[in-house]
Amino acid sequence: MIVMLLSIVVVVIVSTVFESCVARKSEPITGETFVIPNEAVANGEKVFMVHCQKCHPAGEAGLGPAINSNPAPGFIKRFQVRHGLGVMPSFKRGEISEKDLHDIMAYLKAWKHYK
Ligand code: HEC
Repeated sequence: MIVMLLSIVVVVIVSTVFESCVARKSEPITGETFVIPNEAVANGEKVFMVHCQKCHPAGEAGLGPAINSNPAPGFIKRFQVRHGLGVMPSFKRGEISEKDLHDIMAYLKAWKHYK
């Protein structure tokens, strides 16, 4: 439990630090010129639409903050998804498999390089 609390504190601190250098990108990944580069990104988009879109519409801020311009490393984002934080629920392996989670990260990364 202590370890869990400590990791949440670390995630909050690290994401707050990264947060300060986040520049909002308003171009969503869904623009006509975005070409899905591979199967992982295609699957990531599908999983994102099912589980994340309602709170992070097109990666922008909705109920949750914008994540399409968040420079935090993937393991922090994966931790956030697995454990949840505040209003954001956690997603266990039964809902989002390891592969699907990595595909979401590939999708977010492709997004970041888009433009
Ligand atoms: C019920 C709404 C909801 C859903 C569904 C949701 N999120 Fe979130 N998300 C949030 C909220 C709210 C926060 C801010 C949490 C906080 O700081 O208290 C957040 C924060 C995040 C962050 C950290 C962003 C930052 O800049 O600190 C990431 C990364 C993230 N979500 C990714 C995802 C992914 C990937 C999914 C889909 C698997 C997802 N979220 C689904 C509401 C949601």
